[in-house]
Amino acid sequence: MELRGAFPEEFRSQLDLLMRLRRDVRRFRSVPVEEAVLMRCLSAIPLAPSVGLSEPWRILRVDSDTARAAALRNFEKANAEALKGYSDDRASKYAQLKLSGMRDAPVQLAIYCDDETAQGHGLGAATMPEMRRYSVVTAVTLFWLALRAEGLGLGWVSVLDPEQLNRDLAAPAGWQLIGYFCIGYPERQSDTPELQEAGWESRMADLPLQTR
Ligand SMILES: Cc1cc2nc3c(=O)[nH]c(=O)nc-3n(C[C@H](O)[C@H](O)[C@H](O)COP(=O)(O)O)c2cc1C
Repeated sequence: MELRGAFPEEFRSQLDLLMRLRRDVRRFRSVPVEEAVLMRCLSAIPLAPSVGLSEPWRILRVDSDTARAAALRNFEKANAEALKGYSDDRASKYAQLKLSGMRDAPVQLAIYCDDETAQGHGLGAATMPEMRRYSVVTAVTLFWLALRAEGLGLGWVSVLDPEQLNRDLAAPAGWQLIGYFCIGYPERQSDTPELQEAGWESRMADLPLQTR
């Protein structure tokens, strides 16, 4: 822990590149992920900020064929339901999107927030209990960047019925699903979101920053 003050310019430009090349990945190569590499990336999670130092992140590793099949069924049902919410061009565009890599991803994790944790003694969460969930999201972001730095990709799947998934994975009561995550080596690298490439949505031209 020698470094004081700013990191060197070279590091900052590499960090900028890392953030620019972080993508949501849905297409994975059929290459296994070394356990040591996965563990190194997971060790970024406890480095995240958390409200009251509550560390409410909880991880279920989804390895068994049965659990993976249930999660995939869940996604396919929710995705078919979501498609019904669109019509005309949007519906045909939606139908062409690939919204999960659950068939191919070598590593799959369900990440939860323990809404009932006593850790942190409720500090910062009294008026806004959702802060615990936001804490888990910050942890996912660090994990995402750590994976990308190792050449790995992560895909966030939220097109799911969370209650069904909780039952299928026997998640403890009081845990709230933050997301289902597919992890593996990506088929390709890009600096542009896949949804933008697919013509679904584009990034905003400017940061929506106002002054009061
Ligand atoms: C909370 C959250 C939920 C998401 N859920 C899904 C999802 O269910 N399926 C999917 O393909 N992408 C999902 N994404 C990925 C977004 O589509 C993606 O982040 C966005 O299009 C920008 O692309 P990028 O992450 O490559 O920059 C999710 C992202 C977030 C942050």
